[in-house]
Amino acid sequence: MSGSQEILKAASQRLAAAGVETAQLDARYLLAFALGLRLSELGLSSRLEVGFEQQAIFETLLRRRCRREPLQRLIGHWDFWSLDLMMGDAGLIPRPDSETLIETVIAHWPDRSLPLRVLDLGTGTGCLLLAIICEYPKATGLGVDKNPEAVQLAAANAARLGFDARTNFQVGDWGQGLEGSFDLIVSNPPYIPSRQIDELEPEVALYDPRLALDGGGDGLDAYRRIAMDLQRLLAPRGIAVLELGAGQAADVSALLSAAGLELLGLHADLGGVERAILVENRG
Ligand SMILES: C[S@@+](CC[C@H](N)C(=O)[O-])C[C@H]1O[C@@H](n2cnc3c(N)ncnc32)[C@H](O)[C@@H]1O
Repeated sequence: MSGSQEILKAASQRLAAAGVETAQLDARYLLAFALGLRLSELGLSSRLEVGFEQQAIFETLLRRRCRREPLQRLIGHWDFWSLDLMMGDAGLIPRPDSETLIETVIAHWPDRSLPLRVLDLGTGTGCLLLAIICEYPKATGLGVDKNPEAVQLAAANAARLGFDARTNFQVGDWGQGLEGSFDLIVSNPPYIPSRQIDELEPEVALYDPRLALDGGGDGLDAYRRIAMDLQRLLAPRGIAVLELGAGQAADVSALLSAAGLELLGLHADLGGVERAILVENRG
């Protein structure tokens, strides 16, 4: 048996030496997971005794985290907006920056009773669609992803949260072959220029799926494809809210304007980066 405080201190030092910026917090998450507790149950100053079996589980997790495997994938779930979502190898780990898209939608349509028909292109874990379904109790939605395992993961998240009656998920290539008239299209497409992916932190470069990151030579390939389908798939006065990579606002606005959409605004994330673009179908 060993005390939790000693274990946490040693683990934090190892994580920090491996370059993990949030070493103390990660150590606490992993120990809580190994003990079958929530983070809050670990207590800030409690001195829990940790048995040998739990220490062995913790050690395995710690080694993996020291190799920069993402915390979220090790503990198997993570929060997005107000939702606890299961993570899987096929889904991008949802980023707090992407919550800007949900805030943008709510600012545009404050009336939560709207029966919105929502399309989420590149749904991943389903985070964007499920957050909107949660905020608008009469909304229904379709999530599309090219990766069949991501589609399964998103559907499992919907079922676990009790949103399966209002959502569908299917494999697809952006808007190709889709029909329908959506009030809202959301998307966080892959937008990292291909050559920059290997320069990202190991948690992203080694463990997020390439399909979720790679935006082609200039990072804009997916926007070009998505722009082609927006006007056809949006209802009159329907809106699209797309996530942007840093510095992409001007290029993506030009692409969307050329595709006949009206720019309504750009919304910054908490770091001040223009993160969401809002366009409307006036056609
Ligand atoms: C940046 S991730 C976003 C995932 C999730 N919506 C989020 O915000 O965390 C992009 C997603 O687009 C999917 N994707 C890539 N190419 C696609 C395509 N041609 N058609 C549909 N989905 C695609 C990837 O599999 C990935 O799940």
